[in-house]
Amino acid sequence: MSLKPTILFVDDDANTIAAYRRMLRPFGAMWEISYHTDSRVACDEIRRHPTDVVVTDFEMPYMSGLELLTYLKANPATQNIPVIVATGERDRNLKRRALDAGAADLMNKPIEFEELLARLRGSLRLKACYDELNDRNERLEQRVLERTRELHQSRLEIVARLANAAEYRDEDTGRHVVRVAHFSRVIAEALKLPPDEVLSLFIAAPLHDVGKIAIPDAILKKTGKLTEEERRIMQTHCGIGGRILGNEFSQRIDWRLPVTADQTAIKEILDDPVLKTAREIALTHHERWDGTGYPAGLAGEDIPLAGRIVAMADVFDALTTARCYKPAFTLEHSLKLISESVGSHFDPQVHAAFLSRLPEIEELRSALADESPAETVLIFPSQKQATA
Ligand SMILES: [Fe+2]
Ligand SMILES: [Fe+2]
Repeated sequence: MSLKPTILFVDDDANTIAAYRRMLRPFGAMWEISYHTDSRVACDEIRRHPTDVVVTDFEMPYMSGLELLTYLKANPATQNIPVIVATGERDRNLKRRALDAGAADLMNKPIEFEELLARLRGSLRLKACYDELNDRNERLEQRVLERTRELHQSRLEIVARLANAAEYRDEDTGRHVVRVAHFSRVIAEALKLPPDEVLSLFIAAPLHDVGKIAIPDAILKKTGKLTEEERRIMQTHCGIGGRILGNEFSQRIDWRLPVTADQTAIKEILDDPVLKTAREIALTHHERWDGTGYPAGLAGEDIPLAGRIVAMADVFDALTTARCYKPAFTLEHSLKLISESVGSHFDPQVHAAFLSRLPEIEELRSALADESPAETVLIFPSQKQATA
């Protein structure tokens, strides 16, 4: 690409073109200039090569100056090129039409050297300003994109670490939370939820048992049957999780940070859809379709869909893996137990979605098994290509 400013002249009258050429000969070292008598060729040239200023005649065969101007202004790639329209001195009507169509400047014919030079310099300065502004906007957009990406990344980090903290207490479950996230994602996809809801669910699902942080080890890691009282304490993990993930705690903190505090960003984080989904899941993943679950005894569609999906994923994983209180059941036995609970424990539609994607769920189950050597990753499939 040439670093010299490029100027394109188009006029069907060969004499006018020859006059331009003669007048601008001394400027050949400073400017890259092309001359055309065919407006179609000129238009094509502007489309193919970066052009800084266009000087056009008004009345031309094939494509008039007005048509060329209209075309350039309508095209985002060429709309910032200043166009100077050359008309006869008395053509006031034409001048008006050219200005209305977006001409940057006008020039009288016959062309005078001083006028030509003044118009060209003015338009080149204008174009340089446009370019500078464009560059700045692009850099700004890039920075906004980067900042947004960083913000998303840091939210993901926080969620993953919080999930880690919960898992640390309940370590028998190993990669349980990662599998639950993936199973939930697959079920949500089968239910054709919008992609952003699938993503929120995927990121939030690992936090379903975050409330277990507050459950004593003696209960959490008990190998035998829980007493009635212990079961009651165990069941409080839903409400505790809901409170941890709700904004009850954050509301007690004074977020008016000094100097650079961005109140909108803080509010955005507190209202984050992922945290909202996470709270919903923590509160409702032990509710049952027939209303016999806990903590609220919600039934049917009163249970948020995210809670119904995670309930399915969570139970399936609990059945197929060994826990301190039970061995791992075979796939067949687990599926049989689940199907016996459709309509009582599980939402029939969620169960159908789960079954429809069983091969994929089985693949994920073996790739993310506790004993599998693969690194535990919580990467949403569509992000894999982006980060690869
Ligand atoms: Fe739970
Ligand atoms: Fe769980």
